[in-house]
Amino acid sequence: MDILVIGAGNVGLATTAYYHGSENTFFIYDVDSKKIEKINNRERVTDEPSVHDNLSGMILSRKLVAFSDPDELFKYNYDITFICVDTPTKGYAECDTSIVKKVLSVLSKDFKRFGDIVIRSTMIPGTCGTLSQTFKTPLHHYPEFMREGTALFDMGIVSHLVLGSIDIKSGKNIKKLLTFNHPMTTLMHTDTTTAELIKYAHNVMGSMRISYINLLAAYADKVGANIDDVVASLKQDSNKWGTAALEPGYGYGGHCYPKDTIALSYSLEDNQIPSRMIEAIDITNNFILMDTINQIKKGFSKFGNGTNLKLVLWGLSYKEGIADIRNSIAMKIIDHFNSYPNIRIVTHDVKINPGTSPHETIEGAHVLVVFNNENEYRYLDEEIFEKNMVEGGVVIDNKKIVNQVKHTSLEYISRGRTKSN
Ligand SMILES: NC(=O)c1ccc[n+]([C@@H]2O[C@H](COP(=O)([O-])OP(=O)(O)OC[C@H]3O[C@@H](n4cnc5c(N)ncnc54)[C@H](O)[C@@H]3O)[C@@H](O)[C@H]2O)c1
Repeated sequence: MDILVIGAGNVGLATTAYYHGSENTFFIYDVDSKKIEKINNRERVTDEPSVHDNLSGMILSRKLVAFSDPDELFKYNYDITFICVDTPTKGYAECDTSIVKKVLSVLSKDFKRFGDIVIRSTMIPGTCGTLSQTFKTPLHHYPEFMREGTALFDMGIVSHLVLGSIDIKSGKNIKKLLTFNHPMTTLMHTDTTTAELIKYAHNVMGSMRISYINLLAAYADKVGANIDDVVASLKQDSNKWGTAALEPGYGYGGHCYPKDTIALSYSLEDNQIPSRMIEAIDITNNFILMDTINQIKKGFSKFGNGTNLKLVLWGLSYKEGIADIRNSIAMKIIDHFNSYPNIRIVTHDVKINPGTSPHETIEGAHVLVVFNNENEYRYLDEEIFEKNMVEGGVVIDNKKIVNQVKHTSLEYISRGRTKSN
């Protein structure tokens, strides 16, 4: 394949060096003419010896053409074009995509010759969609997860690949390149907005963990604890913390997480350490509670907020399998809606009402909220929901427990899944 890379920085050079191979010819375009000259002279433009060696070999074998004159872009035809330019911070915090736009504007003179146009630059979710509309061309987003200094190693042992496309059926060439070069690796092919969010989800999770552990280290000094043992304990539980607490739902509740989070925050302040990170966790949990309340209110608004509305909650304890309802999110929802004279609340909990059937509770229900992942809810026949709830009833299922409901005429709501509902 003939592959164009725009932007000869960390990502552009690593992309070129990794996907080189006898079957591909690469073209690199960068506005930095000095860098291009160095690449052509096989001088070092990267800190990574393996990237340098590959680029140098490609120049020698005439498998790499590097140029800084934009007119040269239109001398060739390409199967794939990778856009790897920088997306720095604009002003205080905004992601600046002006360089990506500038590049697309150049390519738009003759999009056809550039094959599958794949953006590798990190961009705020939704950007690819907007740019595809502006430039009237279906873009792809292939986020990069490499670390500087170990780029080729990271690209080679990647756990999975993420490719976002405006049109999931398009991108024949980029899919061919990825599957050929990563035959044993799962390719997650999704929409561009999701691919853009996945990149931020990874990077900000890294930032969050780094800040968290440094905050605890500073606190350890104040209270006389040893952070190395704290880290060792968290790492001992790496199986748990690798995947735990990553299921979206209704926020945390129960006897321990809420009180322990605010207690740590209080103690940090008490020790003159800023507790904003931990406070923000509590604030975010409250935001999710309010958002669930709003989902329910919106559900009732379909029925004109009339009288005699029925709200059903399935699962009262803070998690399935137990009967502990202290500080559970479901109980907070009940507290909130108890003051509404037009709303009747009916509940079901497998542990609290053993032997009773949940489907009787939803007879004539306008809104059902499913909190706990119990088999009694998960495996209910979809027709039972439709037969018992009022016509147009709303099922709120933020934990994706009863998604069989999406095949019914009822309205199915699950936070973060609007598109895939
Ligand atoms: N550095 C990393 O490890 C890494 C990892 C994953 C993703 N990313 C993302 O990838 C993107 C690129 O990052 P990077 O570290 O490679 O950046 P970089 O600054 O190293 O390289 C960007 C290159 O683009 C060139 N450029 C600027 N304007 C141009 C234009 N109009 N036409 C052609 N070339 C132009 C610059 O001269 C430079 O060589 C960013 O969005 C970044 O967030 C970076």
